[in-house]
Amino acid sequence: MNQNGICPIAPNVHAIGSQDWKRRIFDAFAPTPLGTTYNTYLVKGQSKTALIDTILPSFGDELSSKIDLLLGSHAIDYVIMNHAEPDHAGSIPRILGQSNAVLITTPKGAEFAQSYFKSPPDRIRVVKTDETIDLGGKTLRFLHAPFLHWPETMFTYLPEDKILFSGDFFGSHNPTGWFDDEAEEVLHWARKYYAEIMMPLAKMGRLGMAKIKDLDLALIAPSHGPMYRNPRSILNEYTKWTGEETLAKAVIIYVSMYGTIEKMARALADTLVAEGVSVRLFDLAVTDIGDLAGHLVDTRALVLGTPTVLGAMHPLSMYATYMIKMLRPPVKYGVIMNSYGWGKGAIHQGQQFLDEAKIESVATIEINGTPSLADFEHIHTVGQQLAAKIKAVVSGTT
Ligand code: FEO
Repeated sequence: MNQNGICPIAPNVHAIGSQDWKRRIFDAFAPTPLGTTYNTYLVKGQSKTALIDTILPSFGDELSSKIDLLLGSHAIDYVIMNHAEPDHAGSIPRILGQSNAVLITTPKGAEFAQSYFKSPPDRIRVVKTDETIDLGGKTLRFLHAPFLHWPETMFTYLPEDKILFSGDFFGSHNPTGWFDDEAEEVLHWARKYYAEIMMPLAKMGRLGMAKIKDLDLALIAPSHGPMYRNPRSILNEYTKWTGEETLAKAVIIYVSMYGTIEKMARALADTLVAEGVSVRLFDLAVTDIGDLAGHLVDTRALVLGTPTVLGAMHPLSMYATYMIKMLRPPVKYGVIMNSYGWGKGAIHQGQQFLDEAKIESVATIEINGTPSLADFEHIHTVGQQLAAKIKAVVSGTT
């Protein structure tokens, strides 16, 4: 039973992290409309005790009081640093300062612990992949899993209880429940999180999935969001997401200052829908960038509609296209639509974006002023061409 913000997850294994209901942005980039959690776990063996990850320093008092409640005068012997980002490792100085614990991490993690947290080298033990530590009736097995999310990341597996402590992998910014069967819209928030953090690293994600494929898993315990006591659901989704499987789907993003681009975007959407393609429209002036990112995980096509502003794409289009390049979605096909007044330039930039993002350009549509009936017929034709490309890909392939 969850009491005092402590949730038992197996005999002598507790989740002791905190919910941050007030947080509204992560990494100054990703919206967190529900807030988030920083998950920390305490594993008590017959002879030794390990803390798996720490917490954002502003929650350090909460963490210390939970450790006191569970351990009393017993000390922490090991601090396992699955990931060095400060939302999980920021309280390492506090925990090492209050105990004689040894910090367990990867070689890269040892560098980061010294540079970020000034951890003394004689308090750090570097572990190899597959190395184990015996806590007395509880074994911790470490699996190096780099770039999930930073270069130093690793998984920790507890075979006696079949628990995988997975760090950011399988995480979500969703504080609505301790477990997947208690929390709200679990896969929706997991997909957004995957898009923002893991999608640019899909190849490393596939390697991570391969490392855990033979583990017997009763529980996946990530460092954000609900724990999965039904691991199959999130494993199935991660197989698709890291495999960069796409759907017969198009995401249309647009900026419209006087409604012209919006009319063009809607006309193209109508054609795509009529052709059997699933469509999501995002007006970039009011778009939650996390919602957009979440839909890029499995979309096969991307359409950008942008006006020209001072010889270039609208600034919101610039930001969105920069972000999309950074997130590296598995989009295959693209269309750029533009309306200009007295000067061109946006189409060239849009085309450059598609090239840099390695998205095949199906067509560009450039209209001077407002679109005529003939222009709308052209948009319809382009929509049919794009739909044909989208539908020609065998479902589920990249
Ligand atoms: Fe939740 Fe990459 O830290």
